[in-house]
Amino acid sequence: MVRQRSNRGRREKTLGVYPSRLVFRILSYYSGCRWATPGELMVTMVGEWIYRLIYRGALESLPEARAVAMGQALFKRLPIEYLPFFRLSDPRLVTPLGGVALPNPLILSSMYYDPAILRNAMAAGFGAVTTKSITANPRPGHPEPNLVRVSTAAGRGFVNCNGFKNPGLAAYRELLKTVPHRVPLIVAVAGESIPEYCQLVAELSRFGDLVECNISSPNTRLVYELSSKPSEVRQLFKELSQVTLKPLIVKLSPDFAEANYSALIPAALDAGVAIINWGNTRRVTEPRLSQRAGGLSGPELFPDTLAQVKKLRGLFGSNIEIIATGGVDHPDKALALLRAGAAAVSYFTGFITRGPFLARRILDRLCQELDRTGSRDLSGLRDSSNVVG
Ligand SMILES: Cc1cc2nc3c(=O)[nH]c(=O)nc-3n(C[C@H](O)[C@H](O)[C@H](O)COP(=O)(O)O)c2cc1C
Repeated sequence: MVRQRSNRGRREKTLGVYPSRLVFRILSYYSGCRWATPGELMVTMVGEWIYRLIYRGALESLPEARAVAMGQALFKRLPIEYLPFFRLSDPRLVTPLGGVALPNPLILSSMYYDPAILRNAMAAGFGAVTTKSITANPRPGHPEPNLVRVSTAAGRGFVNCNGFKNPGLAAYRELLKTVPHRVPLIVAVAGESIPEYCQLVAELSRFGDLVECNISSPNTRLVYELSSKPSEVRQLFKELSQVTLKPLIVKLSPDFAEANYSALIPAALDAGVAIINWGNTRRVTEPRLSQRAGGLSGPELFPDTLAQVKKLRGLFGSNIEIIATGGVDHPDKALALLRAGAAAVSYFTGFITRGPFLARRILDRLCQELDRTGSRDLSGLRDSSNVVG
């Protein structure tokens, strides 16, 4: 737990007095972390610098599969729960999502199933953490290479054809018992038929605070094709809403924008599913991957994510709660999505390319904006011209 906002006035007063604090003020102004204490700011900046050194100097020079294994091994051994500067607690950041109170609007997007990684991610500043999409049977994932780095005009990203590598329903049910709920846990599932989705939600939802149904991964044919079968999706939502009392999230594909607007979101709303995660990776051809195609993630997705959030808010007003996913790797991008009407912002690639300090940096930026606008909560940052209903 880090200091509360009420200390700010005292801190600002002190800042005016000592010349040494002037250096801090200048540093904080340029780093965008104006509201961190000098100690927190120094640690965050040095931490980011060390991460960049490790990521660009070592991990990026390794083949992707080895870099992933090494990065995950390192991350789960970091004593993050004992390092308070990763977190920022401020009541103005509390975010209601499906009736669940997230301590802030940042969500780690679906990718990890290892409980030790999820536990550390919960201590790394996120307001909620999502599990990997779990399938009915264990899956080894697609053969390697199933992840490659890409350098786009917008910055560093990935293309993956992971293929839902996960231990499967029965084994994961046991593992989930060991995952703490320091912040809300979103249990994610992906099925290959309606009964499979229903079985997964029925058996796993009691371990999560919310449940996310992935109907959008581009790397598993039966999942990806669902978006072009609106009557099947309508039936799916109807049956899913009967098997759990937990708030359901539907994770949509940016590749099916028109179907999302005209059929899938209306079907979700009719079934009482009002949390829309837009979205998953975008399918692209990638000859370096074993499947010759995969899902693009990272900053190249951001302009479309922002445009779609604005459109969603304009079309569906306050009938839906939007989780904006795709390309967030900077505090200003998270802020732009919240302004456009997202209830929460989720990311994965930025967690890797920018490191575990990104969440704290975003939270500092949000508090800075709340102070600047005098808002009592995040809804005060929303651009009202964009909201109907
Ligand atoms: C290696 C890898 C594995 C992923 N696995 C899943 C998954 O199991 N389920 C899912 O819904 N999304 C999965 N995603 C997609 C991310 O959760 C996220 O939606 C996507 O990467 C876009 O966000 P980003 O640009 O912040 O990474 C995966 C992404 C990557 C790169």
